[in-house]
Amino acid sequence: MKNIVVLISGSGSNLQAIIDACRNGQINGNIKAVFSNVPEAYGLVRAQQAGIATELVESKYFASRTDYELVLADTIDRYTPDLIVLAGYMRILSPTFVNRYTGKLLNIHPSLLPKYPGLHTHRQALDNGDSEHGATIHFVTEELDGGPIILQAAIPITPQDSEAEVIKKVQQQEHRIYPLVVGWFMQGRLAMRDGKAWMDNHPLPPQG
Ligand code: GAR
Repeated sequence: MKNIVVLISGSGSNLQAIIDACRNGQINGNIKAVFSNVPEAYGLVRAQQAGIATELVESKYFASRTDYELVLADTIDRYTPDLIVLAGYMRILSPTFVNRYTGKLLNIHPSLLPKYPGLHTHRQALDNGDSEHGATIHFVTEELDGGPIILQAAIPITPQDSEAEVIKKVQQQEHRIYPLVVGWFMQGRLAMRDGKAWMDNHPLPPQG
Protein backbone atom coordinates (compact mmCIF):
# COMPACT_ATOMS: atom_id res chain seq x y z
CA MET A 1 0.00 0.00 0.00
CA LYS A 2 1.20 3.52 -0.80
CA ASN A 3 2.25 5.93 1.94
CA ILE A 4 0.77 9.36 2.59
CA VAL A 5 2.17 12.12 4.77
CA VAL A 6 -0.14 15.02 5.69
CA LEU A 7 1.01 18.51 6.72
CA ILE A 8 -1.34 20.68 8.77
CA SER A 9 -1.34 23.87 10.84
CA GLY A 10 -4.86 23.94 12.25
CA SER A 11 -8.12 22.16 12.90
CA GLY A 12 -7.42 19.30 10.51
CA SER A 13 -10.95 18.82 9.24
CA ASN A 14 -9.56 17.96 5.79
CA LEU A 15 -7.13 15.57 7.45
CA GLN A 16 -10.14 13.95 9.17
CA ALA A 17 -11.91 13.53 5.83
CA ILE A 18 -8.81 11.79 4.44
CA ILE A 19 -8.44 9.60 7.54
CA ASP A 20 -12.09 8.55 7.19
CA ALA A 21 -11.66 7.83 3.48
CA CYS A 22 -8.62 5.61 4.18
CA ARG A 23 -10.69 3.74 6.75
CA ASN A 24 -13.72 3.20 4.52
CA GLY A 25 -11.64 2.16 1.53
CA GLN A 26 -12.26 5.21 -0.68
CA ILE A 27 -8.51 5.81 -0.48
CA ASN A 28 -6.24 2.83 -0.93
CA GLY A 29 -3.37 4.26 1.07
CA ASN A 30 -1.85 4.57 4.50
CA ILE A 31 -1.35 7.85 6.36
CA LYS A 32 2.07 7.22 7.85
CA ALA A 33 2.44 10.54 9.68
CA VAL A 34 0.86 13.91 10.30
CA PHE A 35 3.20 16.90 10.53
CA SER A 36 2.36 20.24 12.10
CA ASN A 37 4.29 23.46 12.52
CA VAL A 38 1.84 24.57 15.25
CA PRO A 39 1.82 22.74 18.61
CA GLU A 40 -1.86 23.53 19.37
CA ALA A 41 -3.15 22.34 15.99
CA TYR A 42 -6.21 20.19 16.69
CA GLY A 43 -5.29 18.06 13.69
CA LEU A 44 -2.53 16.55 15.85
CA VAL A 45 -5.19 15.28 18.27
CA ARG A 46 -7.20 13.85 15.37
CA ALA A 47 -4.09 12.00 14.17
CA GLN A 48 -3.33 10.62 17.63
CA GLN A 49 -6.94 9.48 18.03
CA ALA A 50 -6.58 7.62 14.74
CA GLY A 51 -3.31 6.00 15.87
CA ILE A 52 -1.20 7.91 13.33
CA ALA A 53 2.35 9.09 14.13
CA THR A 54 2.68 12.83 14.65
CA GLU A 55 5.64 15.13 14.13
CA LEU A 56 5.87 18.71 15.35
CA VAL A 57 8.50 20.72 13.44
CA GLU A 58 8.38 24.35 14.52
CA SER A 59 10.25 26.91 12.45
CA LYS A 60 11.11 29.08 15.45
CA TYR A 61 13.75 26.59 16.57
CA PHE A 62 15.73 27.00 13.35
CA ALA A 63 18.10 29.78 12.33
CA SER A 64 16.76 29.98 8.79
CA ARG A 65 13.97 28.79 6.55
CA THR A 66 16.54 26.62 4.76
CA ASP A 67 17.47 24.83 7.98
CA TYR A 68 13.82 24.39 8.95
CA GLU A 69 12.86 22.92 5.60
CA LEU A 70 15.89 20.60 5.51
CA VAL A 71 14.88 19.04 8.83
CA LEU A 72 11.23 18.99 7.76
CA ALA A 73 12.07 17.19 4.51
CA ASP A 74 14.49 14.74 6.13
CA THR A 75 11.88 13.86 8.76
CA ILE A 76 9.18 13.48 6.09
CA ASP A 77 11.46 11.19 4.07
CA ARG A 78 11.76 8.78 6.99
CA TYR A 79 8.14 7.86 6.27
CA THR A 80 8.92 7.15 2.57
CA PRO A 81 5.85 8.99 1.29
CA ASP A 82 4.42 8.40 -2.18
CA LEU A 83 2.29 11.50 -1.66
CA ILE A 84 2.52 14.57 0.56
CA VAL A 85 -0.79 16.29 1.25
CA LEU A 86 -0.92 19.91 2.39
CA ALA A 87 -4.18 20.20 4.33
CA GLY A 88 -4.36 23.69 5.79
CA TYR A 89 -0.58 23.94 6.15
CA MET A 90 -0.12 27.68 6.45
CA ARG A 91 3.59 28.17 5.70
CA ILE A 92 4.91 29.03 2.27
CA LEU A 93 7.36 26.38 1.10
CA SER A 94 10.52 27.35 -0.78
CA PRO A 95 11.27 26.27 -4.38
CA THR A 96 13.99 23.94 -3.03
CA PHE A 97 11.48 22.08 -0.87
CA VAL A 98 8.77 22.05 -3.54
CA ASN A 99 11.14 20.76 -6.22
CA ARG A 100 12.29 17.93 -3.99
CA TYR A 101 8.74 16.55 -4.21
CA THR A 102 7.65 17.54 -7.72
CA GLY A 103 4.56 15.64 -8.77
CA LYS A 104 3.87 14.22 -5.32
CA LEU A 105 2.82 17.34 -3.42
CA LEU A 106 -0.86 18.37 -3.32
CA ASN A 107 -2.51 21.45 -1.81
CA ILE A 108 -6.07 22.54 -1.14
CA HIS A 109 -6.87 26.21 -1.42
CA PRO A 110 -10.15 27.88 -0.42
CA SER A 111 -10.93 29.72 -3.66
CA LEU A 112 -11.63 29.06 -7.30
CA LEU A 113 -8.02 29.55 -8.41
CA PRO A 114 -6.59 31.44 -10.20
CA LYS A 115 -8.91 33.80 -8.31
CA TYR A 116 -7.68 34.81 -4.86
CA PRO A 117 -4.35 33.13 -4.18
CA GLY A 118 -3.08 33.83 -0.64
CA LEU A 119 -5.18 34.69 2.40
CA HIS A 120 -8.71 35.97 3.20
CA THR A 121 -10.22 34.38 0.11
CA HIS A 122 -13.81 34.19 1.41
CA ARG A 123 -13.83 37.86 2.42
CA GLN A 124 -12.51 38.88 -0.99
CA ALA A 125 -15.13 36.84 -2.85
CA LEU A 126 -17.94 38.40 -0.77
CA ASP A 127 -16.56 41.96 -0.99
CA ASN A 128 -16.25 41.66 -4.77
CA GLY A 129 -19.88 40.56 -5.10
CA ASP A 130 -18.93 37.23 -6.67
CA SER A 131 -21.83 34.90 -7.41
CA GLU A 132 -19.72 31.80 -6.78
CA HIS A 133 -16.79 30.75 -4.63
CA GLY A 134 -15.22 27.43 -3.80
CA ALA A 135 -12.11 25.34 -3.35
CA THR A 136 -9.32 24.06 -5.56
CA ILE A 137 -6.97 21.10 -5.33
CA HIS A 138 -3.74 21.48 -7.26
CA PHE A 139 -0.23 20.14 -7.60
CA VAL A 140 2.23 22.36 -5.78
CA THR A 141 4.84 24.20 -7.83
CA GLU A 142 7.16 27.10 -7.09
CA GLU A 143 4.39 29.59 -7.81
CA LEU A 144 2.25 30.23 -4.70
CA ASP A 145 -1.19 28.63 -5.22
CA GLY A 146 -0.28 28.52 -8.93
CA GLY A 147 0.37 24.84 -9.72
CA PRO A 148 -1.71 22.84 -12.18
CA ILE A 149 -5.31 22.49 -11.08
CA ILE A 150 -6.76 19.01 -10.57
CA LEU A 151 -10.27 19.60 -9.27
CA GLN A 152 -12.47 22.47 -8.14
CA ALA A 153 -15.82 22.63 -6.36
CA ALA A 154 -18.00 25.73 -6.55
CA ILE A 155 -20.83 26.99 -4.35
CA PRO A 156 -23.24 29.85 -5.07
CA ILE A 157 -22.80 32.91 -2.84
CA THR A 158 -24.55 36.26 -2.41
CA PRO A 159 -23.29 39.46 -0.74
CA GLN A 160 -25.83 38.81 2.06
CA ASP A 161 -24.06 35.58 3.10
CA SER A 162 -21.95 35.74 6.24
CA GLU A 163 -18.27 34.87 5.93
CA ALA A 164 -18.74 32.08 8.49
CA GLU A 165 -21.49 30.50 6.43
CA VAL A 166 -19.42 30.67 3.26
CA ILE A 167 -16.40 29.11 5.02
CA LYS A 168 -18.62 26.27 6.26
CA LYS A 169 -20.07 25.58 2.81
CA VAL A 170 -16.66 25.68 1.13
CA GLN A 171 -15.25 23.30 3.73
CA GLN A 172 -18.09 20.85 3.13
CA GLN A 173 -16.97 20.77 -0.51
CA GLU A 174 -13.32 20.44 0.51
CA HIS A 175 -14.13 17.36 2.58
CA ARG A 176 -15.77 15.82 -0.49
CA ILE A 177 -13.13 16.59 -3.12
CA TYR A 178 -9.85 16.10 -1.23
CA PRO A 179 -10.43 12.40 -0.46
CA LEU A 180 -11.53 11.93 -4.06
CA VAL A 181 -8.31 13.38 -5.47
CA VAL A 182 -6.06 11.58 -2.97
CA GLY A 183 -7.86 8.36 -3.92
CA TRP A 184 -7.17 8.97 -7.62
CA PHE A 185 -3.50 9.62 -6.91
CA MET A 186 -3.21 6.42 -4.89
CA GLN A 187 -4.75 4.51 -7.80
CA GLY A 188 -2.04 5.89 -10.11
CA ARG A 189 -4.61 7.80 -12.17
CA LEU A 190 -3.17 11.27 -11.51
CA ALA A 191 0.22 12.70 -12.38
CA MET A 192 2.00 15.96 -13.09
CA ARG A 193 4.00 16.05 -16.33
CA ASP A 194 5.24 18.94 -18.51
CA GLY A 195 3.83 21.37 -15.93
CA LYS A 196 0.31 20.00 -16.41
CA ALA A 197 -1.99 17.78 -14.38
CA TRP A 198 -2.82 14.50 -16.11
CA MET A 199 -5.73 12.20 -15.32
CA ASP A 200 -5.87 8.73 -16.87
CA ASN A 201 -3.16 9.86 -19.34
CA HIS A 202 -5.16 12.87 -20.53
CA PRO A 203 -4.02 16.41 -19.74
CA LEU A 204 -6.59 18.25 -17.63
CA PRO A 205 -7.68 21.55 -19.20
CA PRO A 206 -6.35 24.70 -17.54
CA GLN A 207 -8.98 26.38 -15.32
CA GLY A 208 -9.99 29.96 -14.79
C1 GAR B 1 -9.01 24.78 4.59
O1 GAR B 1 -10.18 25.50 4.34
C2 GAR B 1 -8.02 24.96 3.47
O2 GAR B 1 -8.61 25.20 2.23
C3 GAR B 1 -7.25 26.18 3.93
O3 GAR B 1 -7.15 26.04 5.31
C4 GAR B 1 -8.29 25.34 5.81
C5 GAR B 1 -7.79 24.26 6.73
O4 GAR B 1 -8.87 23.68 7.42
N1 GAR B 1 -5.97 26.22 3.30
C6 GAR B 1 -5.35 27.37 3.01
O5 GAR B 1 -5.81 28.45 3.24
C7 GAR B 1 -4.00 27.20 2.35
N2 GAR B 1 -3.55 28.42 1.80
P1 GAR B 1 -8.67 22.32 8.21
O6 GAR B 1 -7.43 22.47 9.09
O7 GAR B 1 -9.92 22.18 9.02
O8 GAR B 1 -8.51 21.21 7.20
